Amino acid sequence: MSKIIEVEKLTKQYGSLTALDQFSFAVKEGEIFGLLGPNGSGKTTAINSILGLLKIKEGSIKIFGKNMSPDAYDIKKDIGVVLQEVAVFNELTVYENIDYFCGLYITDNAKRKELIREALKIVGLEKYQKFYPPKLSGGLRRRLNIACGIAHKPKLLFLDEPTVAVDPQSRNNILEAIKELNKRGTTIVYTTHYMEEVEFLCDRVLIIDHGKSVAEGTIEQLKKQAAIDEKIEVELSEINDEQVAKIKQLSNVKDIMVEHSKIVIYFAKENQNMTKLLELLKKENINAQSINLQKPTLNDVFLDITGRELRD
Ligand SMILES: Nc1ncnc2c1ncn2[C@@H]1O[C@H](COP(=O)(O)OP(=O)(O)OP(=O)(O)O)[C@@H](O)[C@H]1O
Ligand SMILES: [Mg+2]
Repeated sequence: MSKIIEVEKLTKQYGSLTALDQFSFAVKEGEIFGLLGPNGSGKTTAINSILGLLKIKEGSIKIFGKNMSPDAYDIKKDIGVVLQEVAVFNELTVYENIDYFCGLYITDNAKRKELIREALKIVGLEKYQKFYPPKLSGGLRRRLNIACGIAHKPKLLFLDEPTVAVDPQSRNNILEAIKELNKRGTTIVYTTHYMEEVEFLCDRVLIIDHGKSVAEGTIEQLKKQAAIDEKIEVELSEINDEQVAKIKQLSNVKDIMVEHSKIVIYFAKENQNMTKLLELLKKENINAQSINLQKPTLNDVFLDITGRELRD
């Protein structure tokens, strides 16, 4: 798989603040690459620097194997961008907005008409073609913003937190639309601070914090890397101290908490924890009403690396 983006040692400063610090990553052709990080971690700065919208202090940026620069129009024609702030014309209808942005790339009228039709369909705005943006809900305006960024069928698409402050229906529509675009062959860079979105969408993810890459890989790889305790909850009809003491003796147990009718057990990471627990319950004739293994999330990974929650 060839590399569509290669960013090396990117450093960006706003005055004395270092917003990106020797930031490096690569995006492969055909993937959905997630840039996951909390507010202010440098996601937008990274995207805008890569697009040549910000002046960088150091670093090299290659897109489609060519050096990116503010006037690299041969590269830019194959890129689509959906910036964090919605940017559409309030004086133009939904249709006219998409037509305007698509017209920057596609001059053939018949072809453009077809592309606008497809873009409207992907974001589910067919019914709203004649609406003006101020008459649309926030979620629908976001969808229009996306339609404007994708109508010319870019090979590479950047989306900067496109689901922030949108209603659940629009959010689902947006996530599905992104999957659909990717299926059609578009390589996607997606920034978010929602780990659920990354887990749903992304083939690979980079976790950014304070302008630095703190972890990178597939979601599975990241979860394996982190030293995360395994948490198993056992629900019992009645709990006695003897049962708790027996469970405590299991080799890998780090901590036990009793909450009402539930025993919450924290194990050091190992493959056999569940099996050993089940064997013990059987041997001791302890009848569990339910047993629940809590899988680690990307938030746990972030917590493990940085000591902070992804969402504060
Ligand atoms: N134009 C600017 N001037 C000065 N500082 C800035 C500017 N833009 C961003 N910053 C700072 O740079 C850091 C990175 O900001 P950036 O907007 O890239 O983060 P982000 O990850 O996109 O955050 P969010 O999730 O809130 O969009 C933050 O500390 C921010 O305050
Ligand atoms: Mg941002």
